[in-house]
Amino acid sequence: MAAREATVRVWDAAVRCAHWLLAATATSAYFVPAVPLDTHRALGYAALAAAVFRVSWGFIGSANARFANFVPCVPALTAYLCAMGRRREPRMLGHNPAGAVMILLLLGLVLTLGASGWMITQPAWRDWRLLEDVHLLAAHALMLAAALHVLGVMYTSLRHRENLLLAMFTGLKRRE
Ligand code: HEM
Ligand code: HEM
Repeated sequence: MAAREATVRVWDAAVRCAHWLLAATATSAYFVPAVPLDTHRALGYAALAAAVFRVSWGFIGSANARFANFVPCVPALTAYLCAMGRRREPRMLGHNPAGAVMILLLLGLVLTLGASGWMITQPAWRDWRLLEDVHLLAAHALMLAAALHVLGVMYTSLRHRENLLLAMFTGLKRRE
């Protein structure tokens, strides 16, 4: 009981389910070849659905899920990065400003991949070779961004002595 009182729910079930569905499907789509297309396409559209859901949830979800509550303005981001440089950045219960920017990038890349993947498969766009380059570039950028994202999670976990990975499963973090 005491342990439960010492924690607070920060991520609702929808945030956690969407996150792990998005991470699993987007990573698998990257490694599953596009020929034959079926499995790649199914994984890619599942990732796209998770990303579209997460973006919508960012407007109607619980407090910590809302973009309005975690997307930083430029001065707030700069102040946080400067504080990081001095190793004085505050612990945050929701996403920190640097993590928030990475989250927008990850979601944007998955949306780009879903849209470009769909366009590649439409007869109307078949001759647009540029789309294939965009799709491939976005896929590599997604994997690079995801690796940086995981490093950021590890860094912040060590810095504030808490397990952010576990929190993305349980939804719980210790109180301030
Ligand atoms: C392509 C792979 C991935 C994508 C697209 C992705 C995307 C995201 C997104 C969109 C969020 C925001 C969560 C929300 O508010 O809904 C997030 C947060 C998070 N992700 Fe990932 N993620 C990926 C891989 C991973 C992996 C492999 C891990 C394991 C270490 C991980 C751990 C976390 C954690 C711990 C958070 C919460 C960060 C915080 O406390 O602020 N992610 N991720
Ligand atoms: C997060 C989602 C996605 C990721 C990470 C991803 C990643 C990739 C990668 C790495 C390739 C090159 C691999 C290869 O040629 O075997 C590729 C190719 C391709 N993807 Fe995706 N993809 C995603 C979503 C989609 C979706 C939703 C579609 C829609 C049908 C799609 C359709 C294609 C097609 C048609 C190709 C072959 C392009 C070409 O001819 O060069 N992808 N994708």
